[in-house]
This record gives sequence, C-alpha cells and structure tokens, in this order.
Amino acid sequence: MSSFSTLVTRDNFAQLLAAVSGLLKTYLRSALDYVISGPRHAAWDFRTHYVRDMLLYLMMHQTDIGVQLFVKLSNSESQWPALTPGLQRVPQGFASMLVIPTYPLGPLPESCVWASELREVARLSEGREMHAECIVASNSSLANLDGRRGPRAILHFHGGAYVTGSVEQYRPVHLLLSQYTGLRVYGFGYRLAPHSLYPTQLYDAYCAYRHMQALGYEENEIVFSGDSAGGNLALALWQLLQKPRLFAMILVSPRVDIASSRRSWSMNAGADIIRGYNINNADDPLRKLLVPQGRPVDQRVVDLLADPYLSSINADLSRLPPTLVQAATAEVMFDDITEFVRRAKAHNNTSVWYDVFEGGFHDFQFVPLLIPNSIKARESIGKFIHDQIALVDRP
Ligand SMILES: *[C@@H]1O[C@H](CO)[C@@H](O)[C@H](O)[C@H]1NC(C)=O
Ligand SMILES: *[C@@H]1O[C@H](CO)[C@@H](O)[C@H](O)[C@H]1NC(C)=O
Ligand SMILES: *[C@@H]1O[C@H](CO)[C@@H](O)[C@H](O)[C@H]1NC(C)=O
Repeated sequence: MSSFSTLVTRDNFAQLLAAVSGLLKTYLRSALDYVISGPRHAAWDFRTHYVRDMLLYLMMHQTDIGVQLFVKLSNSESQWPALTPGLQRVPQGFASMLVIPTYPLGPLPESCVWASELREVARLSEGREMHAECIVASNSSLANLDGRRGPRAILHFHGGAYVTGSVEQYRPVHLLLSQYTGLRVYGFGYRLAPHSLYPTQLYDAYCAYRHMQALGYEENEIVFSGDSAGGNLALALWQLLQKPRLFAMILVSPRVDIASSRRSWSMNAGADIIRGYNINNADDPLRKLLVPQGRPVDQRVVDLLADPYLSSINADLSRLPPTLVQAATAEVMFDDITEFVRRAKAHNNTSVWYDVFEGGFHDFQFVPLLIPNSIKARESIGKFIHDQIALVDRP
C-alpha cells in the first residue's frame, strides 16, 4: 500500500475519495452488466469489458487523480510510464521544452477552401508562441538532446476530438512512441475548440512543421504521427503542404471521415469509448470546432462534412508517404478507416500498411491497458519505422 500514499496530499483528499468511489461504482456496475448481459463486444474477456467502462468514466470526469489511481490499481505503470506521480519528471536531458513561434504561410494549394481563414488566423496570431516539447526515451541511443536533432524525428499530432488534449497529457504517448521507434518525438500544443475554431489547429500544425524545418529537418526526415483527431490534422497538414515526401506517416485510429455515417458507428456504439457525433447538439465537439457558439448549423457547415481537409477519405490520396494505419474492430470509426485504407491502397498498394486489431477500441494503443494487443500494436509501430530505416540506410 505504501506506493498509494504518494497519491495523497493534504489538498486532494476529497478528490481522491470521489475518484475511489467513482471507480468502485463503475467497476461494480460493469461487473453486474457483464453477468447479466455478457461482454460489450463478442471478443472481450471480463478485463477488457471493465477496463473500457473505467476509461469511459475517467474520460467523462476528467479526473487526473482518478487516472493515477487506475494506473496503480491496474498495475500498468510500466506501460504508461509517465502517468505515475513522476510524470512531470522525465529524466533531465531526455525531454526539452520548446517554444514555437508563428511562421508566415507559404503558397497554399489552389483547391484549399480554408485559404482565407488560414490567412486571417496567421495575421491574428502574429507574435504568438506555442508550447511544445521534444522527448527521447531514456535508453535510446539518440538520448543526447544537445544538438536538438537526430537523423530523423516524429512530429506527433495529439488526439482529443479537437477539444481536449495537451502536450502534458500526451507526454506518455510521446515517450512510448520514442521507446518503440528509437526516434525523438516532438509534440506541440495546438489551440483547441471551442475557444479556437478550425482552421486555427491547422495553422498551429503548420507552424510546428515549419519549426522542425527551422531546426534542420528535411521533409524526408520527418515522420507524421497522429491518433484520432491528431490523424485528421496530420492528413490535413500533409495536403496543405502539397504532399511533402515525408519519411513516413503513422495513423492510429485516425478520424478520416467526420460525416460518421458508416455502419460501425451504430454497430460499435455500445462497445467503443467514444459515441456517435451529432452536430445538432450544442456540446458536440465537431460543432464546437466548426460553428461559433450560439450560432445555428447552416448549409456551409453541412457541406464541410465532406471537405477533404476535415474528411481526408475524400482527399486525393496519391503520393502518400509510407503509411502505417492502425484500427480496431470494436471502434465506431472502424469502417471509415478501412474504407480510407482501401482508397489509399488503390493509389499505391505498396506504401500503405493496415493493422487491424480484433476487439480493440478507439486509441487502445495509448491507454494504460492490460490487453496484449496494445503491446502488439506498439511493437508494430516500432517495426514499421525500423523497416523504413533499414530500407533507406541499406548500403
Ligand atoms: C529499453 O528499456 C526497456 C525497458 O526497461 C527494455 O525493455 C528495452 O530492451 C531497452 N532498450 C534498449 C535498446 O536498451
Ligand atoms: C494489394 O496487394 C495485396 C497483396 O499483395 C493484394 O492481395 C491486393 O489485392 C492488392 N490490392 C490492390 C488494391 O491492388
Ligand atoms: C509507391 O510507394 C513506394 C513506397 O513508398 C514508393 O517507393 C513508390 O515510388 C510508390 N509508387 C508510386 C507509383 O507512387
């Protein structure tokens, strides 16, 4: 029990108590459901069933102490190293804070419907600075951060439906990506909705990319990596930059079609950790991203659901860099992602890899989980990058 004492401080006792009671109630309800109605997905054992319910509870209540408690109870610190109380203390020398300035927009693709909004965002953002970080896993051979650059690096676009997520929250993910790929990982804190409407996020991503170039990375030394909404943003930026020949792209449960209309959205709604979207609800994340608060959804917004920047499934997917896509069969987005991969492969069957994980749910690779599939998925990401490196570095 002694390790639990590190969670308790004088100020957070009430929060801790609420988290304990919330998690306990969730666990009991989940167990009861399991006994009465069986698992939420045919492929699930009891553990996956209740872990999913606990995660849903934690996501809905946004309780940091609850997350820490859950990680301890599930004994998954080693899978989620930086969520322990030592979270903020990635060993000195292996993480560095960065400040990304704004960069002027270069020429934009003619077909980009966001051009005038992007120019306006860029104008209003002048002089602004964005918080970012660079992480290298501690036992990686690239651990020396002094020179600020290794031979290649990952730029990770975090998920969170464009309404949540931050560099700090994603530090564990950056660390995991670095551990499995051996590359240094840059994460950046783009502005979120509803405070900042689209395409502010696309402009911030653009600045992050320009900053990597300013640090000395060539386009073919940069890996784009994104989970969920981060995958959406990575694919939008790739289009905005007019398809640079990136070193590679990693898309984990990417949001590729914001119309959310394929069958898996209804079929997996009871199993996944996210539910359907409905732009007609005032608190819908997509509505917060696209519609100013208090304004109705008009035809322009409805048309945007098919915009290739927001729904890259409708983009011209020719000339994708080597791209690894991962999805799981219990995801609401599963059919969208599968169709995206089909369309991408139709352009170039040899540059797209698709990992499908039976019974996994949205973004399961990066949650503190106990199912062997999360480890397999991370290993596959590592192998994909190492294979690409071997191809390029072959004498
Ligand atoms: C890095 O550390 C992890 C966990 O301690 C270990 O499993 C892995 O083999 C190490 N990698 C290297 C390259 O030393
Ligand atoms: C892609 O390659 C796989 C394996 O070689 C093959 O089975 C599949 O039919 C190909 N798909 C397309 C769209 O060419
Ligand atoms: C298809 O992708 C491979 C691997 O990325 C690349 O070497 C090749 O040039 C691509 N072919 C076409 C026609 O784009």
